[in-house]
Amino acid sequence: MATDPIFLATAIEAALVAGRIQRQYFRTNLKVDKKGPIDLVTAADLEVEQYFRELVAERFPSHIVLGEEGAATAATEPPSRHRWIIDPVDGTTNFAHGLALFCVSIALEVDGHVELGVVYDPIASELFTAERGLGAWLNGARIRVSTCSQIIDALLCTGFPYSVRDQPANQIDAFTAFLRQSRAVRRLGSAALDLCYVAAGRFDGFWEMQLNPWDFAAGVLVVTEAGGHVSDYAGAPVKLASSQIVASNHPLHPALLDILAKAH
Ligand code: IPD
Ligand code: CA
Ligand code: CA
Repeated sequence: MATDPIFLATAIEAALVAGRIQRQYFRTNLKVDKKGPIDLVTAADLEVEQYFRELVAERFPSHIVLGEEGAATAATEPPSRHRWIIDPVDGTTNFAHGLALFCVSIALEVDGHVELGVVYDPIASELFTAERGLGAWLNGARIRVSTCSQIIDALLCTGFPYSVRDQPANQIDAFTAFLRQSRAVRRLGSAALDLCYVAAGRFDGFWEMQLNPWDFAAGVLVVTEAGGHVSDYAGAPVKLASSQIVASNHPLHPALLDILAKAH
């Protein structure tokens, strides 16, 4: 069932404003801080998230926000039926290096279910939107996943968490296995865009572990509403508490799970 249209309109409005803020900072001499040895945060991440928190507080005072840059405060917020989930810049490493592959990702969870998702890439001017049960769209045109059915014909995508340097080698084993069995594997650096590209049929499949809800909440809905399939590495449905994501066009899903199971 569709949610109140004001919610999607607000998510789109916020994504466009966020994109404008990102563009203002992009390829400028922007301040980059480190949250960890390789995990960055820029002035754009902080400004977008602050703008969004103020917008929600003003427009929907009973709603709460889970955002990457304010995630530490989430536990202190009173519960609410409506929770907005924002990644103010997904692809921060690209952004900080002047590489034009990043986006803002906004989702709305109602009573524990993600009901809408919006992902906006301000450089390509691509706005991906989805509402549960109502399909997935790119700049207002319906999108569908690919029809690829053979792994040897598949263009796949993955990503690595910031903790990859401390991880057992099996992430590399999976990467090697996919590289050997598919047409090619890409690593773009923005999980939200990776998922939207599966939805648009540009990629046939995507896998990544140790993602956070702000990385995938919107993108997972865009994929499923485009006719794709999303699960964890064991094939179980993805919840917001999940961290492993396998997204595919559907026919390729068993092959992706099989390769992951053998590599892990
Ligand atoms: C990261 C990106 C990247 C993925 C990392 C994420 P950030 O998000 O989505 O593609 O591989 O696991 O943390 O830090 O750019 O918002
Ligand atoms: Ca992210
Ligand atoms: Ca981010």
